[in-house]
Amino acid sequence: MSANVYPVSDEIAKGALIDKAKYDAMYKQSVEDPEGFWGEHGKRIDWIKPFTKVKNVSYDPHNLYIKWYEDGTLNVSANCLDRHLEKRGDQTAIIFEGDDPSVSEHITYKDLHERVSRFANALKSLGVNKGDRVVIYLPMIPAAAVSMLACARIGAIHSIVFGGFSPEALAGRIEDCGAKVVITADEGLRGGRGVALKRNADEALSHAGVKSVEKLVVVKHTGKDIPWNDARDVWYQDICDAASPDCPPTEVNAEDPLFVLYTSGSTGKPKGVLHTSGGYLVYASMTHQYVFDYHEGDVYWCTADVGWVTGHSYIVYGPLANGATTLMFEGVPSYPDASRFWKVCEKHKVNIFYTAPTAIRALMREGAEWVEKADLSSLRILGSVGEPINPEAWEWYHEHVGKRKCPIVDTWWQTETGGILISPLPGATDLKPGSATLPFFGVEPALLDHEGNELEGATEGSLVIKYSWPGQMRTVYGDHERFIQTYFSTFAGVYTTGDGARRDEDGYYWITGRVDDVINVSGHRMGTAEVESALVAHPKVAEAAVVGVPHDIKGQGIYAYVTLNADEEPSDELRAELVKWVRKEIGPIASPDYLQWSPGLPKTRSGKIMRRILRKIAANEYDQLGDTSTLADPGVVNDLIDNRQNR
Ligand code: PRX
Repeated sequence: MSANVYPVSDEIAKGALIDKAKYDAMYKQSVEDPEGFWGEHGKRIDWIKPFTKVKNVSYDPHNLYIKWYEDGTLNVSANCLDRHLEKRGDQTAIIFEGDDPSVSEHITYKDLHERVSRFANALKSLGVNKGDRVVIYLPMIPAAAVSMLACARIGAIHSIVFGGFSPEALAGRIEDCGAKVVITADEGLRGGRGVALKRNADEALSHAGVKSVEKLVVVKHTGKDIPWNDARDVWYQDICDAASPDCPPTEVNAEDPLFVLYTSGSTGKPKGVLHTSGGYLVYASMTHQYVFDYHEGDVYWCTADVGWVTGHSYIVYGPLANGATTLMFEGVPSYPDASRFWKVCEKHKVNIFYTAPTAIRALMREGAEWVEKADLSSLRILGSVGEPINPEAWEWYHEHVGKRKCPIVDTWWQTETGGILISPLPGATDLKPGSATLPFFGVEPALLDHEGNELEGATEGSLVIKYSWPGQMRTVYGDHERFIQTYFSTFAGVYTTGDGARRDEDGYYWITGRVDDVINVSGHRMGTAEVESALVAHPKVAEAAVVGVPHDIKGQGIYAYVTLNADEEPSDELRAELVKWVRKEIGPIASPDYLQWSPGLPKTRSGKIMRRILRKIAANEYDQLGDTSTLADPGVVNDLIDNRQNR
């Protein structure tokens, strides 16, 4: 915890949309009269048929539903495109910055509208109808945003799978949502290296369980030679050229699904988080405007990938609904060298910059001289997302990138929440490095003890949200029961976030991390159960237990304990093989950082693995193991300590 407080500067407060008094007044109204508040702010987007009902929510686990603006109709792509054409048709909507620093492109709203309309018509010609699922497996190129908006235009439901996921992971998601069409590229490019997306997609589609896919649309990006299946594959460019640029937006209900995005939980397979159209767009656009103090003409850059929720809400939907100029970056912070982020800020005169603590820590390690190489005078607001930001990284970001004049908004939220729930507002909130500070309008966080009692004042507990907000997820795709079990059964009558938090004497929230078996590796969410099931799928593995371990750059690393089958011998080759196996099963982001052979795992007499002990051993805190007397065989603990990997 940091003792420093950075008050709102006069400079920032002067031009800000929301100052302290306004935050207090709006927050008060939002929680005292949510119907009135959200009724008023629901009008920030264009409705085809205006809503007359604002909120209809029940958190009763026997009859759980969440509906916002339920009798309104709209089209999300028309809100992001058509409604801007008159006023800002020639303004840049998307700045594309390629992996190769010599490649960039400005796409105007008019141009984006045409590309989206053509592709929407092309999708229709492939048989995609309202409600059909389309999986997008693309690099960070404009076609990714075009694909999302084209689906939205015709009421199809997109599900983006991050380009770093393996064919197996892709196949599982395609199968779960029953996609009719998959969109990919010949290759992605990251740090000058090709990523074999088409080859991965081919492999995913060859899985026995994947039966729904009729067409694979391929964007020509690097021009690499790729295998082709005439009966199934079509070139994106060809079908767009052949399609009409006129595609009237399909009218959808506020509660019709916009997208499904898979995310990890503490148990089982990743779940399809389903977001709907009206409430999501109201919430994404409103948080984008106020949290980043977005003003007309600002150039805004969020460095996330569209494969994660941050890319959905804060590269595409929020900014474009607000008529912003949003930058899409294909590359990585370290290529061609560690000044890349800052050079891009200079090149495109970025005003608002939003990134993840893991990137800041990695760049901090390279030294501030890389930041000095670029003119960062255009920057006004900085943001952080994905994991707690340690005060050292915050201070470095503030001093070297923000030159002590840019407020940092540390935004806490989740795939499930659709948009930012706890964050400073630049003109309203004094900053404390490491704290996500205060709730956004309409959000009422609470901290509960183990029994579900609400704790008052300065305290620490499980973070829950008491009432619904328009951007909340509506269900787990195809498994409403899992939705109820995961988020509404631990504590009655509230949304359970799975995070722990502390509240200080000023009412500021400090997120302490997950309280479940989810870990956060470089801001990417990973279920320990997923890595475990990948490991035990290997023929030589009998049992595996995976925990998170503190990691200087990634925040958390992956530490795996593996028990081999009785007739197998541990070896360095086998260790390398297992790490490779996990990369293949899930993707590089799931690679174990440490893999320890463990002839036995610490279990209770009823057979439950005691992860608390495994976490302590992994973190080298074996003097704080606590009570081990309930273990079936306390002897295994000493063996694990003697052979730990993280020395
Ligand atoms: O543990 C919290 C952490 O990331 C989790 C959500 O991950 P995901 O659904 O992948 O969404 C990431 C981008 C919104 C949360 O449960 N987290 C996210 N932002 C922060 C954070 N932890 C602390 N501070 C944050 N600002």
